[in-house]
Amino acid sequence: MHKPKPRLAIFASGRGSNAEALMHAFERDFLPADLALVLSNKPQAPVLDIAEKHGYPIACVSNEGLSREAHEVQVLETLRQAEVEHIVLAGYMRILTPAFLEAFKAQGGGAIINIHPSLLPDFPGMHAIERQHEAKVAIAGATVHHVIDQVDAGPTILQGSLEVRGDEDAEELGRRIREEVEHDLYPRALRLFLDRLDTPITQDPKVVI
Ligand code: GRF
Repeated sequence: MHKPKPRLAIFASGRGSNAEALMHAFERDFLPADLALVLSNKPQAPVLDIAEKHGYPIACVSNEGLSREAHEVQVLETLRQAEVEHIVLAGYMRILTPAFLEAFKAQGGGAIINIHPSLLPDFPGMHAIERQHEAKVAIAGATVHHVIDQVDAGPTILQGSLEVRGDEDAEELGRRIREEVEHDLYPRALRLFLDRLDTPITQDPKVVI
């Protein structure tokens, strides 16, 4: 009998270009998993329309007027109902609290994975693109990593880089990072993670097998 595929949720707050790159990867059977849910905290987020167009289940759990804790409780319940095992953050503009990470694990949740637009450990946190632009870095890039209870500090799964031309403004640099690095990197990193899920030796992402 076939083992059921892992059930994933994508979390995104806005444009959703990485989410869409992942949807394309699901559609060409590149990812051995099911996309069980696309969740946003913003009712107007374009990513919800994109997911609907692609035919994936969507949920909006708005944080408007809610405490961080109350919002996270609703998100956890939504994940429980959709039987989500792993979370893939793609431009989700909220930091998940340590309490959320604990509670997700307690309800049987697995990994939480994020993509950050810099070569971590350089430029963690907010405005990473603008800060790389101001610092006039020669090489920029993106990192796919596991989420832990410190921001942008979890174990790296995969990184990708590009050579900065030097004439880009910050907006153009962001576009290049997304289109030339992230949209290819995120599906490959997720594939790597999924392929290793069945490895019986260890689940520790830092251990090379
Ligand atoms: C990406 O640059 C990603 O690295 C960061 O947020 C941005 C999301 O862009 N976490 P999009 O919504 O996927 O287009």
